[in-house]
Amino acid sequence: MLLRLFRRKTLDQISRDAEASAETHLKRSLGSIDLVALGIGAIIGTGIFAVIGTAAAGGPGHLGAGPAVSLSFIITAVACAFCALCYAEFAALVPISGSAYTYSYSTLGELVAWIIGWDLIIEYAVGNVAVAIAWAAYFHQLFSGLGIHIPEWLAVDYRSAHQAAETVVAAGGTISAGVALPYAAWTAAPEILGVKLIFNFLAFLIVGAVTWLLVIGIKESARANNIMVALKIVILLFFIGVGAMYVKPENWTPFMPNGFAGVWTGASLIFFAFIGFDAISTAAEECKNPGRDMPIGIIGSLIICTVIYIATAVVLTGVEPWYELGVADPLAAVFARAGLDWAAGIVALGAVISMTAVLLVFQLGQPRIFFSMSRDGLLPKYFAKVHPKYRTPHVTTIWTGVVVAVISGVANINEIVELTNIGTLFAFVLVCAGIIILRKTDPDRPRVFRTPLVPLVPLLGIGMCVYLMLGLPQITWIRFGAWLLAGLVFYFGYGYWHSKLKSTAS
Ligand code: ALA
Repeated sequence: MLLRLFRRKTLDQISRDAEASAETHLKRSLGSIDLVALGIGAIIGTGIFAVIGTAAAGGPGHLGAGPAVSLSFIITAVACAFCALCYAEFAALVPISGSAYTYSYSTLGELVAWIIGWDLIIEYAVGNVAVAIAWAAYFHQLFSGLGIHIPEWLAVDYRSAHQAAETVVAAGGTISAGVALPYAAWTAAPEILGVKLIFNFLAFLIVGAVTWLLVIGIKESARANNIMVALKIVILLFFIGVGAMYVKPENWTPFMPNGFAGVWTGASLIFFAFIGFDAISTAAEECKNPGRDMPIGIIGSLIICTVIYIATAVVLTGVEPWYELGVADPLAAVFARAGLDWAAGIVALGAVISMTAVLLVFQLGQPRIFFSMSRDGLLPKYFAKVHPKYRTPHVTTIWTGVVVAVISGVANINEIVELTNIGTLFAFVLVCAGIIILRKTDPDRPRVFRTPLVPLVPLLGIGMCVYLMLGLPQITWIRFGAWLLAGLVFYFGYGYWHSKLKSTAS
């Protein structure tokens, strides 16, 4: 029994399976520039446009990093760099879609692969809940700027906004217009039988729209992605350029208002901004020369985003006191509060477009992971159904859409970000461990890209990820534990018995 839990797919088997499956056998057309763009497309989004505010200002269970949030970015970038080097070796070695799930099937065995696949639901689907909530906040800001008022109770994650208001009061600040939204929403919301009708309808709607696009089969086009990416970068450079003119250096002191503990918890939270470089690896099957281009794509996009992020953090914390930043749309809010409504509008438009792109990438990725798991027999075949007309995995796409949309309507963005981070960090830990193991179990396989200094680099990656996980609140650990437990119940109730490898390993 124990042996069967660790049954592994060999790398050759994985390649054969993928070749055999017409649906996942994709055209090899992407080069290294496309991959860098793909990475930036998945990386820049809610983290830099929204989570940065909470990382700086703090919240329940979190101390704010203050202006030192730029240091938080550096710490997280270093952690991601170690993991990116490991992802790069794997992606070049196993150029098959399915990402960490596929890698671990070949190295750590079926049980761990299942756990990772289950865990990736947190990264992709749960992560998208946070993206949808932040999208709604920016969309609301955008329309307000145009003079169209959407009632707050239809567009505000009032729970986290409420907490932000408390943080401001605790720090002795004044509740500004942005932070006052939850109170307004709460007071204005209609009531039925004493229950306030507060539902983030905008977040719900955008997920519904994205799901519909994916079901009818939006064409994934590298060219469209490249345009989006250029736009994201231009908007952030615009923020840095205009914001720099409004910096008041006194806002940078004290630099670390909550000491290093604040920087640490800020880093654990801001990790969300980096999630996505790993998603490049899901395109390995579509890559012309994965051995050379994958490492360039993964590491290149990470470096570009890190530089832009740090500059954004320095400017943002210079424009307003750190404790005022804990709103869902800080980059637009600081401009709006400075009377620069036009600039706030431009940033809000850029943010809405950026986050739509992130929603698409992850909402598209989730069904592919389900698809791989279903192909291996770990999930029922039902999950791998392809629409007869649109040729898309409509069942998983719609299920993912419904669940993400409903949760987006009621969730607290901060809690969702924390859960996404712990789940993704855990997947990174397993990928780093996989590199060390594979060097021992399959040392002679030609490696086009080798992670340098193995086992030191993977061990540093593991250490840094665990360090960031420990910066997350206890309740997040409990939720994550419950999620993994549910996954184990599902595995032993279904996957263990239906796995395609069952007959070969027992
Ligand atoms: N890194 C992605 C974002 O910040 C998930 O939206």
